[in-house]
Amino acid sequence: PTTAPRVVRTRAELAEALVAPVGRRAVVMTMGALHEGHLSLVRRARELADQVVVTIFVNPLQFGAGEDLESYPRDLDGDVRLLAGAGADLVFAPDVATVYPTQPLVTVHAGPVADVLEGAVRPGHFDGVLTVVLKLMHLTRPDVAIFGQKDAQQLAAIRRMVRDLDVPVEVVAAPIVRDTDGVALSSRNAYLDGEQREHARALYEAVLAAQAAAEQGSGAAGVRRAAEEVLAAEPGVTTDYVALVDADTMTEVGDDHAGPALLALAARVGSTRLIDNTMVVL
Ligand code: PAJ
Repeated sequence: PTTAPRVVRTRAELAEALVAPVGRRAVVMTMGALHEGHLSLVRRARELADQVVVTIFVNPLQFGAGEDLESYPRDLDGDVRLLAGAGADLVFAPDVATVYPTQPLVTVHAGPVADVLEGAVRPGHFDGVLTVVLKLMHLTRPDVAIFGQKDAQQLAAIRRMVRDLDVPVEVVAAPIVRDTDGVALSSRNAYLDGEQREHARALYEAVLAAQAAAEQGSGAAGVRRAAEEVLAAEPGVTTDYVALVDADTMTEVGDDHAGPALLALAARVGSTRLIDNTMVVL
């Protein structure tokens, strides 16, 4: 399908666009600057539902001081063109005053899932994510919402919110989409110059090294070390963390752990912070 989706900007337009009964509705929430990773979520939504709503909103609440809120890439026209090809029916692209008509005094607290990894480096980030995700769920009223495994901690936090607050939405995870060089697609890759892009491959190579170590039976410590060594050996890459955690709680698994675990890593290339992850079985 290449029909352009309808684009609505206000709460009233959105409500009006959602009145007609359509069967099953899926939502894909994004901050725009769309790439194949986002579009894979839209295609998955298309398989799962009769109506596909995509939200595009750069959420100030999830950006910390000194982060890239102002410079975050924005291209609504380009995004809408891409969404036509992926089969979106409706795009909700509100401005900040529409989503937050007043400063929210009541927000979602993400709890311990959000205290570690990304949450440790970005205090308040996941509270901001969960607050906007819950608001957008209320505004779009989906049956199912699709999120990428790329942001594994975000996915875990959303799953936990849905469970703990009885949000009547099914959460579906979609696999990480990578570029031909293995680098996980991210809107922030746009910040990388040619040389930095080469360095960024180390994150994927660390993921591969962790997978290989797991397959060789290296155990938790060996899997962590394999990923750490690849990152440490790459000039121009500064490791923020390499963690091997329970994929639901984000707590570190012990050295004697057997079974599935999430290897998650974050590193800086220049001033750009990148994340990647993979499931391994120990
Ligand atoms: P954003 O970074 O735009 O990502 C939107 C969705 O696309 C998320 O579910 C994310 O995990 C997924 N995604 C991004 N890159 C991907 C890739 N390479 N492969 C697969 N999925 C990928 O995540 C957010 O926006 C925001 O925090 C949001 C949930 C919209 C709340 O503001």
